[in-house]
Amino acid sequence: MSEIAKITLEGNEFEFPVIKGSEGEKAIDISTLRSKTGHITLDPGYKNTGSTTSEITFLDGEKGILRHRGYSIEDLAENCSFLEVSYLILYGKLPNKVEIESFETSITEHTLVNEGLDAMFKAFPTGSHPMGQLSSMISALSLYYPKALNPNRPEEAINRTVIRLMAKMPTICAMIFKKQNGHPTVYPKNNLDYVTNFLNMSFGQVADPNYTPDPVVVKAMNKLLILHADHEQNCSASTVRVVGSSQASLYSSISAGISALWGPLHGGANQEVLEMLENIKNDGGDVQKYLDKAKDKNDPFRLMGFGHRVYKNFDPRAKIIKTSADEVLEKLGVNDPVLEIAKELEQAALKDPYFVERKLFPNVDFYSGIIYRALGFPTDFFTVLFALGRLPGWISQWQEMRRDKHPIARPRQIYTGATLREFIPIDKRA
Ligand code: SDX
Repeated sequence: MSEIAKITLEGNEFEFPVIKGSEGEKAIDISTLRSKTGHITLDPGYKNTGSTTSEITFLDGEKGILRHRGYSIEDLAENCSFLEVSYLILYGKLPNKVEIESFETSITEHTLVNEGLDAMFKAFPTGSHPMGQLSSMISALSLYYPKALNPNRPEEAINRTVIRLMAKMPTICAMIFKKQNGHPTVYPKNNLDYVTNFLNMSFGQVADPNYTPDPVVVKAMNKLLILHADHEQNCSASTVRVVGSSQASLYSSISAGISALWGPLHGGANQEVLEMLENIKNDGGDVQKYLDKAKDKNDPFRLMGFGHRVYKNFDPRAKIIKTSADEVLEKLGVNDPVLEIAKELEQAALKDPYFVERKLFPNVDFYSGIIYRALGFPTDFFTVLFALGRLPGWISQWQEMRRDKHPIARPRQIYTGATLREFIPIDKRA
């Protein structure tokens, strides 16, 4: 027999069904709460509120578990390419050889970006933030594919937009990187795999057609993109769902997700972490000073890359990235002093009651920037790389929301402002 929740309000008892997920998570279904009781719930930041059921990603914050469609992030990061994991997240199964080849071929056929977009791109101010450029470019794709403005199209038409986004995102990200360096765009090459193509467009030179990325870099980039591919109802994925629920196009919804990710409390944290570590290094490397600042309620400073809404033990992605950071820097012969500062900071925080009591541990953003920098990317480009990884997750969340025919997202509120006041003409106002 299914469980029920009983709520007593103003002397009346109301019953609401309890639903249970495939991993034992439980929720009180309050979809009839207001009609039955005249009450709503209030939960700023939705810390206790579920917006949907989902089959894409499972997190267990206490046990540090992250799975996509039932596969552990450890298995996926160690054994798959980013496109295999993207296929899994988008279509619900790990692809066989025929499926992955067809997926890769479809993507290869759509990697070019309309030259008209390039004119708009060239007008972006030099030095403007890469995330602002990215969200603008992705939104502008809808100007070139106006049929995609209608999300109520047959599945194969929607999938064409999915393929276009997956294909053009690396090209646009690389264009932004090249612009930062004042270098000409390097076009995609159809004979390269997804990640190698991205690295070639980023680090290859028009004058050096024979550039070949280090296999260590290709492997690390695949792993980093996999580790960012989806993360259930995080701020940016929820944004994509909310925007998509109004029947806005997939391009508009993804552009909104990019903007939400940009925030320093979310994906923008990977840039903030490196800037924080650099500040600590330049300030003499006194990690305790910065731990004390992070604990001081009068100081706005936060330990960037620490803490998580869900993970209250450890972020499994941070563990994988930390190991990978050691490997990549060693293989590339990079000696980055901020890596040692990061490790020292982590060790000190893990012993500090403030962080232990609040269950604040390194999250995915704490070590990722150290690898990105070792690969040759600048700090303000790190969140673009996060977005490149998160794209399949955002698309899949949008598709699931539409598959499940969610109504437009429109939360309620409790009004606490002025009650009715008599209108006073301007010439009589004090
Ligand atoms: C990502 O949701 C996702 O899944 C996101 C993500 C994904 O893959 O999509 O995992 C990616 O966004 C990772 C998070 C990156 N952000 C940061 O590293 C920024 C620093 N971290 C925090 O700002 C914070 O930890 C959050 C935003 C991540 C979580 O915030 P919550 O859950 O709202 O927690 P909170 O702000 O209510 O903090 C609870 C307590 C507070 O202290 P008290 O009021 O109880 O005394 O912990 C403190 C906070 O002051 N706290 C911190 C802290 N994080 C929380 N204190 C110092 N340094 C920090 N980093």
